[in-house]
Amino acid sequence: MKAVAVNAFGTAPVLMDMARPVPDAEQVLVKLQASGLNPFDWRVGDGILKGKIPHLFPLILGVDGAGVVEAVGANVRRFKPGDRVVGQFLFGRAGQGSYADYAVIDQNAVLSRYPQTLPAALAAALPTAGITALQLSQRLDLKPGSTVLIVGATGGVGSFLTQLATMNELRVIATASGGAAERMRVLGAVKTLDYRSTPIDQWMGTHYPEGIDGLVDLVSDAAGFARNASFVKNGGVALSTVWSARAEELMARGIKGGNFEAKTTSADLDLLVRTAVAGELTIPVERQITLAQVPAALAENRAGGARGKTVVVL
Ligand SMILES: NC(=O)c1ccc[n+]([C@@H]2O[C@H](COP(=O)([O-])OP(=O)(O)OC[C@H]3O[C@@H](n4cnc5c(N)ncnc54)[C@H](OP(=O)(O)O)[C@@H]3O)[C@@H](O)[C@H]2O)c1
Repeated sequence: MKAVAVNAFGTAPVLMDMARPVPDAEQVLVKLQASGLNPFDWRVGDGILKGKIPHLFPLILGVDGAGVVEAVGANVRRFKPGDRVVGQFLFGRAGQGSYADYAVIDQNAVLSRYPQTLPAALAAALPTAGITALQLSQRLDLKPGSTVLIVGATGGVGSFLTQLATMNELRVIATASGGAAERMRVLGAVKTLDYRSTPIDQWMGTHYPEGIDGLVDLVSDAAGFARNASFVKNGGVALSTVWSARAEELMARGIKGGNFEAKTTSADLDLLVRTAVAGELTIPVERQITLAQVPAALAENRAGGARGKTVVVL
């Protein structure tokens, strides 16, 4: 089978031929139809999980994937051959990822069934960014009518979060550079700001001198997060997905939140699948690529500028 993998931490991912994996007693073998791209994928190649879990080399990258169960191990009860499944192909060890024609996954991993009415290319965009956005929207826990600034809103997490926060009747201010404003308005943002033409603090000082109720910052470093969080009012919430929050500083100002880490679950993925199938959530796939294009797409994602989700169609 074909797969995109790295031979060592920090080396460039390449398309290579590899043996089709064989499921152990607890695993499901999935014939993948689509894989979703996340910044986490190139971080795994860089070694972000080094020392935390075992790694199998060549390390097949890719976490999110959707496809059809081809075979199951002797102890598998949750799934059977022919099931359409979507999930996170990272459980206990790294390197058996979703940028491949086939992948094995533990039956207890984050894995859900999805109906035929949902194309695999949309399902594969859901797990990591969708669940993160869902849990961020829950952590915000703000009253309807509250205002929340999302920094990094145009990417995968932000495109889901803008919609989910809007569903919770929050008023979303979304950063949107380079002509992405209309797209963010369609997803629900009531205001957009192009941080490349006007610095966020300058724009906020002009438009929201009274402050805002919430901040979700998906990109800024510690100094940038502190600047953005300075607009959050006492009693509000400020969250960083990139470990830039200093919780004690927030606490001193009466602001809840801090650094956020998603705890992905199959129950949350089930909920997202149901919400998408019901037509209440747009899965923001902006680009479809082939497996051979993955190495270049990962390099582009590292450089920034993502719009919604990029999905690999197998
Ligand atoms: N902690 C967790 O549990 C968790 C879970 C999932 C993801 N994450 C992390 O959260 C971050 C976002 O994930 P993602 O999947 O949404 O990434 P993504 O799809 O690559 O999107 C990132 C977005 O940020 C925008 N951006 C970059 N620099 C910016 C800046 N200075 N100000 C405002 N916007 C900026 C980019 O577009 P422009 O540059 O064109 O504006 C892009 O749209 C990643 O670092 C990811 O690793 C953390």
